[in-house]
Amino acid sequence: MAPIVPVLVVEDAAHAAPLANALVAGGLLALEVTLRTPAALEVIREMAAVQGGIVGAGTLLTPADVLAAKEAGAMFGVAPGATDVLLDACEDADLPLLPGAATASEAMRLLERGYTMLKFFPAEASGGAAAIKAIGAPIPQVKFCPTGGVSPTNAADYLGLSNVVCAGGSWVAPKDKVMAGDWAGITALAKAAAQLGL
Ligand code: 3PG
Repeated sequence: MAPIVPVLVVEDAAHAAPLANALVAGGLLALEVTLRTPAALEVIREMAAVQGGIVGAGTLLTPADVLAAKEAGAMFGVAPGATDVLLDACEDADLPLLPGAATASEAMRLLERGYTMLKFFPAEASGGAAAIKAIGAPIPQVKFCPTGGVSPTNAADYLGLSNVVCAGGSWVAPKDKVMAGDWAGITALAKAAAQLGL
């Protein structure tokens, strides 16, 4: 699995297919489309048709978000935190979820419900790699995908931990490159990201 999951905020559905193709060409196959723009569901629909990509929906907050994401073709969901209502909705919709946690108690509650792969969010603001390492001592069976402030500069610190499987970041699809249609530039960023932590 590629170590970096692009966190995508896409304003224009016309950018969806070329952006997904550019990231997949660079070796990043799992793509998180955040539900933070009016175009997001259409973007998921377009990206779901791109060969080689595995498209998920990020920023899931409500059961309605879960149903809309699933209907648009999302293969997985990502949430900044976790509530019982949201977990129930994902389980009912059969949508695999990466729920967010940033403390030992949050990780323990999700572990009780059977979740062993969690998003550590907001990663840098919650103590960064040192915090994940510390949580891993008593709870090694929980693995994390940190996001929020992860960058090429600090990604290796996270990816070097035994309880980190991958990391999420928005830097591989910067707004200026997306708006300019600089798909080759985005493929280059994706290729560099795919090498991180190897
Ligand atoms: C997320 O939703 O995971 C974060 O907003 C991504 O954070 P970044 O922009 O710092 O990579």
